[in-house]
Amino acid sequence: MALLSGLDDAGLALRLRGRPGKRTALPLPADGSPVDVRTLWSGAATTRERAYCAFLGDLSAAAKAGQLTLDFPPFVAPVLEEPGAWNLTGDAAFAEEYPDAWDTLSEASPNYALKRFERRLYLSHLGSWLETLPSSADVLDVGGGIGRFSQEWLRRGYRTSLAEPNGAALALALGHLARQGGAFSLWQLAAETLSPFVDERFHMVSAMEVLCYLSKPERGFAEAARVLRRGGLFIASVESPVGSLEPGVKHSLEAIATAQTVTEKALEGDLWVRYFTPDRLRSACESAGLAVDAIIGTHYLTDGPLHHAVDVDRLGDADYEDGLIGVEHVLAGSARWASAARAWLVVARKR
Ligand SMILES: C[S@@+](CC[C@H](N)C(=O)[O-])C[C@H]1O[C@@H](n2cnc3c(N)ncnc32)[C@H](O)[C@@H]1O
Repeated sequence: MALLSGLDDAGLALRLRGRPGKRTALPLPADGSPVDVRTLWSGAATTRERAYCAFLGDLSAAAKAGQLTLDFPPFVAPVLEEPGAWNLTGDAAFAEEYPDAWDTLSEASPNYALKRFERRLYLSHLGSWLETLPSSADVLDVGGGIGRFSQEWLRRGYRTSLAEPNGAALALALGHLARQGGAFSLWQLAAETLSPFVDERFHMVSAMEVLCYLSKPERGFAEAARVLRRGGLFIASVESPVGSLEPGVKHSLEAIATAQTVTEKALEGDLWVRYFTPDRLRSACESAGLAVDAIIGTHYLTDGPLHHAVDVDRLGDADYEDGLIGVEHVLAGSARWASAARAWLVVARKR
């Protein structure tokens, strides 16, 4: 089962196929049958090797340009149930129409600075928990998308598995993680079924902005708990009902309070969200056998109810961002604003 060995340093399991009518310099079968990427590489095929990572980056770029198709283990795309499946349809349509905007880890994306800032914001709440992990912790990033958090886990030296159902996102993640380098593997998996991973394998599971998009979020919580070691760290963020308010508009505290009763949003074929309150989030964790350390309100400013107080053109300026993060922490602890969080971040441990 070498192809499913995943996180060993022997390399990244990945197959590629040529696309009809597209030429590549690679010796790919004309009939489009899949090739294990490591058979195309003469050196050490490990994601700690710079040259191999540069090659993987080129493959990612070629996939982004539509020249070839990359397939990720277990090499069978997961079938998602509706309504959660609508989120992937919506993402595919957005990626097709706005490819630069979708690839938010690329500097060409108009959302690059915003998404990086929001990652910093989450991390600003998580520092003390992350310090409890061993230096080469084995971590799983569920619904990892194009690699925003996996990139950070690799930067910290963690052995990182990214699981994501969207193959196009995985193809972009390959480039972003290869640029970072380190022990990583990519898996085309939905959060509901992480079956290639044995029980109690990981020191940490992250699921940032993911579980609220599942048809049955409880299955995602249960799978995350299953693959975590006892005492292992679970970090996740989910949308709060504030997400149901029209974006880009100023809302009163009364409107925000009224929105707290909204439980879900359904836009057929495009989007489906289950909104979480802190109570619902705590209960979802506890039902899965996760003991909650903290539930933290976040995103009051960017993408949140106080978005109009942010000068997005100044994101990327470290001093400005530090100021915003300071204000976020004050709001999260304030009696008046705490419940107006746009998202809830939970930190829990497997019992
Ligand atoms: C808002 S993005 C967040 C991506 C990444 N975690 C981050 O914070 O940048 C939501 C991600 O959840 C993924 N997703 C949607 N349904 C999923 C499911 N059933 N299982 C796992 N991931 C899912 C999407 O494909 C998308 O990559």
